[in-house]
Amino acid sequence: MRSCFCCPTGHPISPWRISMLTAAQPFAAKRRPPDRSPSGLRALGEGQVDIWRMQIPSSLPARMGAVLSTDEKERAARCSPQVARAFICARSALRRVLAGYVGQPAATLAFHIDEWGKPSLPGPARAIHFNLSHSGNEIVFAISRHIVGIDIERISPTPPYEIIPLVLARREQQCLARLPEKERAGFFYALWCRKEAVTKAIGRGLDIDLRQIDVSAGVDQGETKASLSIDLKAVHGAWHLHHIAIATGFAAAVACAEPNCSLAFREFHDQEALAV
Ligand SMILES: CC(C)(COP(=O)(O)OP(=O)(O)OC[C@H]1O[C@@H](n2cnc3c(N)ncnc32)[C@H](O)[C@@H]1OP(=O)(O)O)[C@@H](O)C(=O)NCCC(=O)NCCS
Repeated sequence: MRSCFCCPTGHPISPWRISMLTAAQPFAAKRRPPDRSPSGLRALGEGQVDIWRMQIPSSLPARMGAVLSTDEKERAARCSPQVARAFICARSALRRVLAGYVGQPAATLAFHIDEWGKPSLPGPARAIHFNLSHSGNEIVFAISRHIVGIDIERISPTPPYEIIPLVLARREQQCLARLPEKERAGFFYALWCRKEAVTKAIGRGLDIDLRQIDVSAGVDQGETKASLSIDLKAVHGAWHLHHIAIATGFAAAVACAEPNCSLAFREFHDQEALAV
């Protein structure tokens, strides 16, 4: 049965600019040197997960949405201005980034959207997996040859703790309850992002009973595994989790089926984006 939980944060997004992840990476796994060359994007090695970050402005450059499909433009037109701005920025930047990996013009990419809403690339380009998330000012993409899920959440000082019994596994609830009050909000969002990254990698989003996924192991460390209930694990396998430090005041995590993945953090400049 589908759950009806909302994310702990909303998705208003501001300044358009994809910038290098210069934030400290206390929980990131092996880092690669940043690649500033758009043409260098095509090299996506086995086990590599590229993490892209962008920020979005309150007003969009005129050419920003030029690469969107008719369906995408119609979707944006149905949204409120704030939601439309977020969608146009995220989807058009995603197209431009993916174009570099698959060697195809951004506007010609056709996304397949499955019954749970997860977009993927059809045909030979299906070898490139991706996922995106946005919250507050931030948008992040994960791109890999392996199935990936990513989530970012702005840390609210007043998290919706009322959803805890509905979304946290027993051990996660115990870990949270043991923490001093001032550490709880950050921990709650760290758990949430790890959990949502797993469900987005699986592709079912919040449709899964989130209590069946325990992400509390090593939540303060770099690379750990999510513990899935027996039924869920039998169907969906094991997922490896990485915390990613995107910006102050945000929690973020990426989940990948590959145990030895290597994270690379990348910058995307607006002038490069609009040149494609
Ligand atoms: C996926 C889901 C967790 C996103 O939650 P969120 O925190 O609000 O949003 P995020 O910013 O983290 O991620 C949104 C992006 O995830 C991707 N996405 C959408 N559905 C997805 C899914 N089932 N699995 C993985 N990724 C998904 C999309 O790229 C989406 O961006 P878009 O809206 O610009 O196309 C939520 O939409 C969900 O639970 N979906 C469950 C399946 C469902 O009910 N789908 C509706 C079908 S019409």
